[in-house]
Amino acid sequence: MGLDENKLKKIEKKLLAVKEEVINCKKCPLYKSRTYPVIGEGNHLAKIFFVGEAPGFWEDKKGRPFCGAAGKILDELLDSAGLKRSEVYISNILKCRPPNNRDPMPEEIEKCSKYIERQIEAIKPEVICCLGRYSMKFLMEKFGFEKELLPISKIHGTIFRHKSKQKSPIIIPFYHPAVAVYNKKMKEILKRDFLALRKFK
Ligand code: URA
Ligand code: SF4
Repeated sequence: MGLDENKLKKIEKKLLAVKEEVINCKKCPLYKSRTYPVIGEGNHLAKIFFVGEAPGFWEDKKGRPFCGAAGKILDELLDSAGLKRSEVYISNILKCRPPNNRDPMPEEIEKCSKYIERQIEAIKPEVICCLGRYSMKFLMEKFGFEKELLPISKIHGTIFRHKSKQKSPIIIPFYHPAVAVYNKKMKEILKRDFLALRKFK
């Protein structure tokens, strides 16, 4: 077995373990109202890992991340940055849909984020793209940028990179694609911010 094949097998094993646990997870009450949990999908060797907030209506019905209106926007943004879904990995902080798409609660993030941490640790991306403020807050705190944390309106599109910790991923916060569903100006801002990803392809 080649080196890459061996590496891929190890990654897949870790991701599969997460998947099996999520399918059976009852750590928070969201499992009761979900249709399907959304585990995540994409390239297991991805350099770029997108982390959204939580499944919405369609994601819950299909068990796939960003397959509704926000997903359409995400596809457009990826396309304008020259990226394909098949080259990146996409998941969320919460794996089960909050009723009526309400905001995630701190206890839910606390319990469920163990899964996204393990997915990141398995894939070891160079860049983590936070989609929305919940993802931004969790990931900037986790990767040591808590002092730089500001409202997303101030730091969207900023590339956070540790000078000393070479192996730590680069973190880039973005507005959540859902904000652009009915707002052209937001879509333009998102498109501009996404252009920064071209250099990480
Ligand atoms: N919004 C998210 O944050 N994640 C999805 O998967 C879909 C919509
Ligand atoms: Fe488990 Fe996360 Fe679903 Fe809660 S949201 S039941 S922690 S998988």
